[in-house]
Amino acid sequence: MLMRLLVGFWRMVRRYNFYRKMSKLKKGDNQMTEIIKSIETIAIQINEAIKYEDTSKAETENSSGDIQVKLDVISDEIIEKEFSKVKSIKEIVSEEKEDAYPLNENGKYLVAYDPLDGSSLIDVNLSVGSIFGIYKNSYDGANIVASVYVVYGPRVEMVVARDVVELFKLDEKKGEFIFQKELRLQEKGKLIGPGGTQKEWYPFHKEMIDNFFKEGYRLRYSGGMVPDLHQILLKGGGLFAYPATNDKSKGKLRMLFEVFPFAYVYKIAGGLAIDGKEDLLSLTPTHLHDTTACFFGSDYEIQKVLEVYK
Ligand code: AHG
Ligand code: MN
Ligand code: MN
Repeated sequence: MLMRLLVGFWRMVRRYNFYRKMSKLKKGDNQMTEIIKSIETIAIQINEAIKYEDTSKAETENSSGDIQVKLDVISDEIIEKEFSKVKSIKEIVSEEKEDAYPLNENGKYLVAYDPLDGSSLIDVNLSVGSIFGIYKNSYDGANIVASVYVVYGPRVEMVVARDVVELFKLDEKKGEFIFQKELRLQEKGKLIGPGGTQKEWYPFHKEMIDNFFKEGYRLRYSGGMVPDLHQILLKGGGLFAYPATNDKSKGKLRMLFEVFPFAYVYKIAGGLAIDGKEDLLSLTPTHLHDTTACFFGSDYEIQKVLEVYK
């Protein structure tokens, strides 16, 4: 009798967990869900392309003047093809395309994306990613309403930021993403990822980074913002910085495709994202490919940045 009761209870718990996992991607509005489902399909295809397509450089440059690898172009084509099927997308804009590309006049959302982030790491087989910012009305930081990124590492993981930040893992055998857990930043972390050419750092920036190391922070910088920011987020905190420098007065990372989506993730996870002084999500780009200095982290580290940059 007791045994049967226990088995019944165990089955109930399993069923509850199953429906909890399934329901995660169904909440929110249907149009947003349609976009996230499309990103899942995209991620599966890009993951396959990374494994089987040519990993060499292309002969072309993108709008930021970066030499493209063939996989940048392939990933961009996969995304364009899949998003073209999604009715709720009004317009897309890609790091790999000069101009925005209209899709559906009556679509509710604008989507800006970096098809393959960290693509210079493709040849050395380090983790890379895809980043998507979902906006309403315009690409101002204040108008981002959700963001999603995918990490192509030893596993494929997807992080979705809406009202909370959620981690999903790709089950490659089933071809589906399974909810893992909600992600929250702690008040203080142990890692820093300091970007930019050190020779060109402003002296006060160098001093700030040195001070973090003196406090005991450990260096974690791969050259791909997706795995670098993913690591800091999953380890619960720290600082990722890509500052303005003598050679790049507006930093390197692009507002629409890289900075705003990660600012949204970090803020929803309980952290902060600033350009040194201002909230990154208060910025308005003047051009689709505009860049900005950026700092993402947990509360303690960002307060330190604010003290130095004020
Ligand atoms: P992308 O591959 O889309 O051009 O982006 C690379 C970005 C970002 O992922 C990374 O943090 C940064 O560039 C690395 O720049 P440095 O080589 O200057 O460190
Ligand atoms: Mn990028
Ligand atoms: Mn890219």
